[in-house]
Amino acid sequence: MAITTAEKRIYVNDVAVRDGFQSEPNFVPTDKKIALINRLSKTGLAKIEVTSFVSPKAIPNLRDAQEVMQGITRSADVTYVALVPNERGCERAIECNVDEINLVMSIGETHNLANMRMTCEQSLEQFRRVITLLRGSNIRVNGTVATAFGCPFEGDQPLYRVLWAVEQYAAIGMHSVTLADTSGMAHPAQVSRFSEAYQTAFPKLPATLHFHNTRGMGLANVMAGIAAGINSFDASLGGIGGCPYAPGATGNICTEDMVHMLQSSGYDTGVDLDQLLTIARDLPDILGHDVPGHIIKAGKRTDLAPMPVTASQATH
Ligand code: COA
Ligand code: ZN
Repeated sequence: MAITTAEKRIYVNDVAVRDGFQSEPNFVPTDKKIALINRLSKTGLAKIEVTSFVSPKAIPNLRDAQEVMQGITRSADVTYVALVPNERGCERAIECNVDEINLVMSIGETHNLANMRMTCEQSLEQFRRVITLLRGSNIRVNGTVATAFGCPFEGDQPLYRVLWAVEQYAAIGMHSVTLADTSGMAHPAQVSRFSEAYQTAFPKLPATLHFHNTRGMGLANVMAGIAAGINSFDASLGGIGGCPYAPGATGNICTEDMVHMLQSSGYDTGVDLDQLLTIARDLPDILGHDVPGHIIKAGKRTDLAPMPVTASQATH
Protein backbone atom coordinates (compact mmCIF):
# COMPACT_ATOMS: atom_id res chain seq x y z
CA MET A 1 0.00 0.00 0.00
CA ALA A 2 1.35 3.44 -0.93
CA ILE A 3 2.06 5.83 1.94
CA THR A 4 1.20 9.45 1.12
CA THR A 5 2.94 11.98 3.33
CA ALA A 6 1.76 15.34 1.96
CA GLU A 7 0.65 17.54 4.86
CA LYS A 8 -0.18 14.49 6.92
CA ARG A 9 -0.40 15.32 10.60
CA ILE A 10 0.65 12.64 13.08
CA TYR A 11 -0.14 13.12 16.79
CA VAL A 12 2.58 12.11 19.24
CA ASN A 13 1.76 11.17 22.83
CA ASP A 14 4.57 10.69 25.33
CA VAL A 15 4.15 8.03 28.02
CA ALA A 16 7.67 8.00 29.52
CA VAL A 17 6.73 9.35 32.92
CA ARG A 18 3.98 6.73 33.25
CA ASP A 19 4.91 3.62 31.24
CA GLY A 20 8.62 4.34 31.63
CA PHE A 21 8.90 5.36 35.27
CA GLN A 22 6.49 2.66 36.52
CA SER A 23 9.03 -0.07 35.79
CA GLU A 24 12.27 1.70 36.74
CA PRO A 25 14.31 -0.06 39.43
CA ASN A 26 14.41 3.18 41.45
CA PHE A 27 11.76 5.75 42.38
CA VAL A 28 12.20 8.94 40.38
CA PRO A 29 11.84 11.85 42.84
CA THR A 30 8.61 13.85 42.48
CA ASP A 31 10.36 17.17 41.72
CA LYS A 32 12.34 15.53 38.88
CA LYS A 33 9.13 14.08 37.41
CA ILE A 34 7.46 17.49 37.54
CA ALA A 35 10.46 19.28 35.98
CA LEU A 36 10.61 16.72 33.15
CA ILE A 37 6.89 16.99 32.39
CA ASN A 38 7.12 20.80 32.38
CA ARG A 39 9.94 20.62 29.82
CA LEU A 40 8.06 18.07 27.69
CA SER A 41 4.99 20.32 27.76
CA LYS A 42 6.85 22.87 25.61
CA THR A 43 7.88 20.51 22.80
CA GLY A 44 4.63 20.26 20.80
CA LEU A 45 3.49 16.84 22.03
CA ALA A 46 -0.26 16.23 21.67
CA LYS A 47 -0.61 14.33 24.95
CA ILE A 48 1.49 13.50 27.99
CA GLU A 49 0.51 10.49 30.09
CA VAL A 50 1.51 11.95 33.43
CA THR A 51 0.97 9.12 35.91
CA SER A 52 -1.30 6.28 37.07
CA PHE A 53 -3.94 6.43 39.79
CA VAL A 54 -3.39 2.79 40.69
CA SER A 55 -2.66 1.00 43.93
CA PRO A 56 0.66 2.26 45.37
CA LYS A 57 1.32 -1.34 46.38
CA ALA A 58 1.00 -2.49 42.76
CA ILE A 59 3.12 0.36 41.31
CA PRO A 60 5.17 1.99 44.11
CA ASN A 61 7.08 4.18 41.62
CA LEU A 62 3.92 6.18 40.90
CA ARG A 63 2.78 6.57 44.49
CA ASP A 64 3.20 10.34 44.11
CA ALA A 65 0.52 10.55 41.36
CA GLN A 66 -1.47 13.34 43.04
CA GLU A 67 1.58 15.51 43.82
CA VAL A 68 2.83 15.16 40.26
CA MET A 69 -0.52 15.86 38.61
CA GLN A 70 -1.10 18.89 40.84
CA GLY A 71 2.51 20.12 40.70
CA ILE A 72 2.94 20.46 36.93
CA THR A 73 2.43 23.65 34.94
CA ARG A 74 -0.08 22.80 32.29
CA SER A 75 0.07 24.00 28.71
CA ALA A 76 -3.27 24.66 27.01
CA ASP A 77 -2.03 22.79 23.91
CA VAL A 78 -1.32 19.51 25.70
CA THR A 79 -3.83 16.92 26.90
CA TYR A 80 -2.72 15.59 30.30
CA VAL A 81 -3.69 11.96 30.77
CA ALA A 82 -3.70 9.63 33.77
CA LEU A 83 -4.05 5.85 33.68
CA VAL A 84 -6.90 4.55 35.81
CA PRO A 85 -7.81 0.91 36.56
CA ASN A 86 -10.94 1.31 38.66
CA GLU A 87 -13.50 3.59 40.33
CA ARG A 88 -11.10 4.52 43.16
CA GLY A 89 -8.51 5.67 40.61
CA CYS A 90 -11.16 7.75 38.86
CA GLU A 91 -12.04 9.56 42.10
CA ARG A 92 -8.38 10.45 42.56
CA ALA A 93 -8.08 11.60 38.93
CA ILE A 94 -11.14 13.86 39.30
CA GLU A 95 -9.59 15.46 42.42
CA CYS A 96 -6.59 16.37 40.28
CA ASN A 97 -8.71 17.61 37.38
CA VAL A 98 -6.98 15.54 34.68
CA ASP A 99 -7.89 16.26 31.05
CA GLU A 100 -8.27 12.61 30.13
CA ILE A 101 -8.58 9.29 31.91
CA ASN A 102 -7.04 6.23 30.27
CA LEU A 103 -8.93 3.10 31.31
CA VAL A 104 -6.91 -0.06 30.78
CA MET A 105 -7.98 -3.67 30.41
CA SER A 106 -5.95 -6.51 28.90
CA ILE A 107 -7.96 -8.77 26.60
CA GLY A 108 -5.72 -11.63 27.61
CA GLU A 109 -7.61 -12.63 30.79
CA THR A 110 -4.43 -14.05 32.32
CA HIS A 111 -2.58 -10.76 31.95
CA ASN A 112 -5.57 -8.78 33.19
CA LEU A 113 -5.68 -10.97 36.30
CA ALA A 114 -1.92 -10.58 36.90
CA ASN A 115 -1.88 -6.84 36.19
CA MET A 116 -5.24 -5.59 37.43
CA ARG A 117 -6.33 -8.53 39.59
CA MET A 118 -9.66 -8.49 37.74
CA THR A 119 -11.36 -10.56 35.06
CA CYS A 120 -12.27 -8.63 31.91
CA GLU A 121 -15.91 -8.55 33.04
CA GLN A 122 -14.84 -7.05 36.39
CA SER A 123 -12.74 -4.42 34.59
CA LEU A 124 -15.68 -3.51 32.34
CA GLU A 125 -17.91 -3.19 35.39
CA GLN A 126 -15.38 -0.76 36.94
CA PHE A 127 -15.35 1.22 33.68
CA ARG A 128 -19.15 1.54 33.71
CA ARG A 129 -18.90 2.97 37.22
CA VAL A 130 -16.16 5.36 36.13
CA ILE A 131 -18.34 6.70 33.31
CA THR A 132 -21.17 7.21 35.80
CA LEU A 133 -18.83 9.10 38.14
CA LEU A 134 -17.68 11.32 35.27
CA ARG A 135 -21.17 12.39 34.17
CA GLY A 136 -21.30 16.16 33.89
CA SER A 137 -17.49 16.60 33.91
CA ASN A 138 -15.31 17.68 30.98
CA ILE A 139 -12.87 14.82 31.49
CA ARG A 140 -12.43 12.73 28.36
CA VAL A 141 -12.17 8.96 28.53
CA ASN A 142 -9.85 6.81 26.44
CA GLY A 143 -10.04 3.03 26.65
CA THR A 144 -6.90 0.98 26.18
CA VAL A 145 -7.16 -2.56 24.85
CA ALA A 146 -3.95 -3.97 26.33
CA THR A 147 -2.30 -7.14 24.97
CA ALA A 148 -4.27 -6.43 21.76
CA PHE A 149 -1.51 -7.86 19.56
CA GLY A 150 -0.68 -10.81 21.81
CA CYS A 151 -0.68 -11.80 25.48
CA PRO A 152 2.65 -12.81 27.03
CA PHE A 153 0.92 -15.81 28.64
CA GLU A 154 -1.80 -16.78 26.12
CA GLY A 155 -0.19 -15.74 22.81
CA ASP A 156 -2.05 -14.25 19.86
CA GLN A 157 -5.42 -12.71 20.58
CA PRO A 158 -7.94 -13.14 17.75
CA LEU A 159 -9.07 -10.01 15.92
CA TYR A 160 -12.69 -10.63 16.90
CA ARG A 161 -11.71 -10.38 20.58
CA VAL A 162 -9.99 -7.03 19.99
CA LEU A 163 -13.11 -5.77 18.18
CA TRP A 164 -15.31 -7.17 20.96
CA ALA A 165 -13.38 -5.11 23.54
CA VAL A 166 -13.66 -1.96 21.40
CA GLU A 167 -17.39 -2.58 21.04
CA GLN A 168 -17.70 -2.79 24.84
CA TYR A 169 -15.74 0.47 25.21
CA ALA A 170 -17.94 2.22 22.62
CA ALA A 171 -21.10 0.99 24.32
CA ILE A 172 -19.82 2.21 27.71
CA GLY A 173 -19.34 5.67 26.16
CA MET A 174 -15.57 6.06 25.80
CA HIS A 175 -14.41 8.84 23.47
CA SER A 176 -11.38 7.13 21.93
CA VAL A 177 -9.46 3.84 22.02
CA THR A 178 -5.82 2.75 22.18
CA LEU A 179 -4.73 -0.63 20.87
CA ALA A 180 -1.69 -1.48 22.99
CA ASP A 181 1.04 -3.98 22.29
CA THR A 182 1.98 -4.46 25.93
CA SER A 183 4.80 -6.93 25.41
CA GLY A 184 6.09 -6.10 21.93
CA MET A 185 4.47 -8.96 19.99
CA ALA A 186 2.86 -6.90 17.18
CA HIS A 187 4.22 -7.25 13.65
CA PRO A 188 3.48 -4.99 10.67
CA ALA A 189 1.12 -7.37 8.80
CA GLN A 190 -0.97 -7.79 11.95
CA VAL A 191 -0.96 -4.02 12.61
CA SER A 192 -2.28 -3.41 9.06
CA ARG A 193 -5.02 -6.01 9.47
CA PHE A 194 -6.14 -4.88 12.93
CA SER A 195 -6.00 -1.16 12.08
CA GLU A 196 -8.05 -1.59 8.91
CA ALA A 197 -10.62 -3.79 10.65
CA TYR A 198 -10.89 -1.32 13.54
CA GLN A 199 -11.52 1.65 11.26
CA THR A 200 -14.05 -0.25 9.17
CA ALA A 201 -15.96 -1.30 12.29
CA PHE A 202 -15.61 2.00 14.23
CA PRO A 203 -15.06 4.79 11.70
CA LYS A 204 -15.99 7.53 14.19
CA LEU A 205 -14.01 6.32 17.21
CA PRO A 206 -10.48 7.84 17.11
CA ALA A 207 -7.70 5.27 17.54
CA THR A 208 -4.16 5.43 18.91
CA LEU A 209 -1.53 2.70 18.61
CA HIS A 210 0.85 1.95 21.49
CA PHE A 211 3.90 -0.17 20.67
CA HIS A 212 6.81 -1.57 22.62
CA ASN A 213 10.07 -2.28 20.82
CA THR A 214 10.70 -5.55 22.65
CA ARG A 215 11.38 -7.44 19.42
CA GLY A 216 12.69 -4.56 17.31
CA MET A 217 9.45 -4.18 15.31
CA GLY A 218 8.18 -0.97 16.94
CA LEU A 219 8.88 1.68 14.28
CA ALA A 220 7.97 -0.71 11.44
CA ASN A 221 4.62 -1.11 13.20
CA VAL A 222 4.17 2.67 13.28
CA MET A 223 4.65 2.86 9.50
CA ALA A 224 2.20 0.00 9.02
CA GLY A 225 -0.32 1.81 11.24
CA ILE A 226 0.08 5.05 9.27
CA ALA A 227 -0.32 3.21 5.96
CA ALA A 228 -3.57 1.80 7.33
CA GLY A 229 -4.83 5.29 8.23
CA ILE A 230 -3.95 5.72 11.94
CA ASN A 231 -2.59 9.16 12.91
CA SER A 232 -1.94 8.95 16.68
CA PHE A 233 0.88 7.07 18.41
CA ASP A 234 2.16 6.62 21.94
CA ALA A 235 5.91 6.59 22.48
CA SER A 236 8.31 7.11 25.32
CA LEU A 237 11.19 9.57 25.70
CA GLY A 238 14.47 7.65 25.49
CA GLY A 239 12.55 4.45 24.67
CA ILE A 240 12.10 3.56 28.34
CA GLY A 241 9.09 1.60 29.56
CA GLY A 242 7.50 -1.76 30.16
CA CYS A 243 4.79 -3.44 32.18
CA PRO A 244 6.04 -4.91 35.48
CA TYR A 245 3.40 -7.66 35.12
CA ALA A 246 4.53 -8.81 31.63
CA PRO A 247 7.65 -11.00 31.92
CA GLY A 248 10.53 -9.75 29.76
CA ALA A 249 8.69 -6.60 28.72
CA THR A 250 11.00 -3.80 27.59
CA GLY A 251 10.77 -0.23 26.44
CA ASN A 252 8.17 1.57 24.41
CA ILE A 253 9.11 2.84 21.00
CA CYS A 254 11.32 5.87 21.52
CA THR A 255 9.59 9.25 21.05
CA GLU A 256 12.54 11.13 19.59
CA ASP A 257 13.44 8.23 17.27
CA MET A 258 9.83 8.09 16.04
CA VAL A 259 9.64 11.87 15.54
CA HIS A 260 12.97 11.78 13.68
CA MET A 261 11.69 8.99 11.41
CA LEU A 262 8.37 10.71 10.75
CA GLN A 263 9.87 14.13 10.08
CA SER A 264 12.50 12.60 7.77
CA SER A 265 9.66 10.89 5.91
CA GLY A 266 7.77 14.17 5.44
CA TYR A 267 5.14 13.96 8.17
CA ASP A 268 4.13 16.89 10.34
CA THR A 269 4.34 15.86 14.01
CA GLY A 270 4.15 19.36 15.48
CA VAL A 271 7.09 18.37 17.73
CA ASP A 272 10.34 20.31 18.11
CA LEU A 273 12.81 17.46 17.65
CA ASP A 274 15.88 19.40 18.85
CA GLN A 275 14.14 20.36 22.07
CA LEU A 276 13.03 16.76 22.58
CA LEU A 277 16.58 15.50 22.02
CA THR A 278 17.95 17.96 24.59
CA ILE A 279 15.50 16.62 27.17
CA ALA A 280 16.14 12.99 26.22
CA ARG A 281 19.89 13.48 26.74
CA ASP A 282 19.20 14.29 30.40
CA LEU A 283 17.30 11.04 31.02
CA PRO A 284 20.32 8.82 31.80
CA ASP A 285 21.26 11.23 34.61
CA ILE A 286 17.73 11.19 36.02
CA LEU A 287 17.49 7.38 35.86
CA GLY A 288 21.09 6.44 36.60
CA HIS A 289 21.43 4.25 33.50
CA ASP A 290 21.65 4.35 29.72
CA VAL A 291 18.42 4.46 27.68
CA PRO A 292 17.64 2.63 24.41
CA GLY A 293 17.03 5.66 22.10
CA HIS A 294 19.16 5.76 18.94
CA ILE A 295 19.13 9.39 17.86
CA ILE A 296 20.56 10.74 21.12
CA LYS A 297 23.58 8.51 20.42
CA ALA A 298 23.88 8.65 16.63
CA GLY A 299 22.60 12.21 16.07
CA LYS A 300 20.05 13.15 13.42
CA ARG A 301 20.68 11.89 9.88
CA THR A 302 21.42 15.51 8.91
CA ASP A 303 24.13 15.89 11.62
CA LEU A 304 27.12 15.15 9.43
CA ALA A 305 30.53 14.14 10.73
CA PRO A 306 33.55 16.35 9.88
CA MET A 307 35.18 15.48 6.57
CA PRO A 308 38.07 13.01 6.95
CA VAL A 309 41.44 14.73 6.57
CA THR A 310 42.32 12.90 3.34
CA ALA A 311 39.07 13.97 1.64
CA SER A 312 39.43 17.62 2.63
CA GLN A 313 43.08 17.67 1.50
CA ALA A 314 42.02 16.28 -1.88
CA THR A 315 40.01 19.46 -2.57
CA HIS A 316 43.13 21.67 -2.35
N1 COA B 1 -5.63 3.97 43.81
C1 COA B 1 -5.09 3.85 45.05
N2 COA B 1 -5.30 2.80 45.86
C2 COA B 1 -6.12 1.84 45.40
C3 COA B 1 -6.72 1.90 44.13
C4 COA B 1 -6.43 3.02 43.32
N3 COA B 1 -6.94 3.14 42.10
N4 COA B 1 -7.46 0.80 43.96
C5 COA B 1 -7.34 0.07 45.07
N5 COA B 1 -6.53 0.70 45.94
C6 COA B 1 -6.10 0.24 47.26
C7 COA B 1 -7.27 -0.12 48.13
O1 COA B 1 -7.73 1.02 48.80
C8 COA B 1 -6.65 -1.13 49.05
O2 COA B 1 -5.86 -0.47 50.00
P1 COA B 1 -5.63 -1.06 51.49
O3 COA B 1 -4.93 -2.36 51.29
O4 COA B 1 -4.78 -0.02 52.14
O5 COA B 1 -7.00 -1.22 52.04
C9 COA B 1 -5.67 -1.87 48.14
O6 COA B 1 -5.35 -0.96 47.10
C10 COA B 1 -6.26 -3.14 47.57
O7 COA B 1 -7.51 -2.84 46.96
P2 COA B 1 -8.30 -3.88 46.05
O8 COA B 1 -9.53 -3.22 45.53
O9 COA B 1 -8.46 -5.18 46.80
O10 COA B 1 -7.34 -4.03 44.84
P3 COA B 1 -6.43 -5.25 44.39
O11 COA B 1 -5.39 -5.57 45.39
O12 COA B 1 -7.32 -6.33 43.90
O13 COA B 1 -5.69 -4.56 43.14
C11 COA B 1 -5.74 -2.86 41.44
C12 COA B 1 -6.42 -4.06 42.03
C13 COA B 1 -6.35 -2.61 40.06
C14 COA B 1 -5.98 -1.65 42.32
C15 COA B 1 -4.21 -3.12 41.33
O14 COA B 1 -4.00 -4.37 40.77
C16 COA B 1 -3.52 -2.07 40.51
O15 COA B 1 -3.43 -0.92 40.92
N6 COA B 1 -2.99 -2.44 39.31
C17 COA B 1 -2.35 -1.54 38.43
C18 COA B 1 -1.25 -2.22 37.68
C19 COA B 1 -0.58 -1.33 36.69
O16 COA B 1 -0.64 -0.12 36.76
N7 COA B 1 0.09 -1.96 35.71
C20 COA B 1 0.83 -1.29 34.70
C21 COA B 1 0.05 -0.45 33.78
S1 COA B 1 -0.88 -1.32 32.57
ZN1 ZN C 1 2.96 0.14 27.39
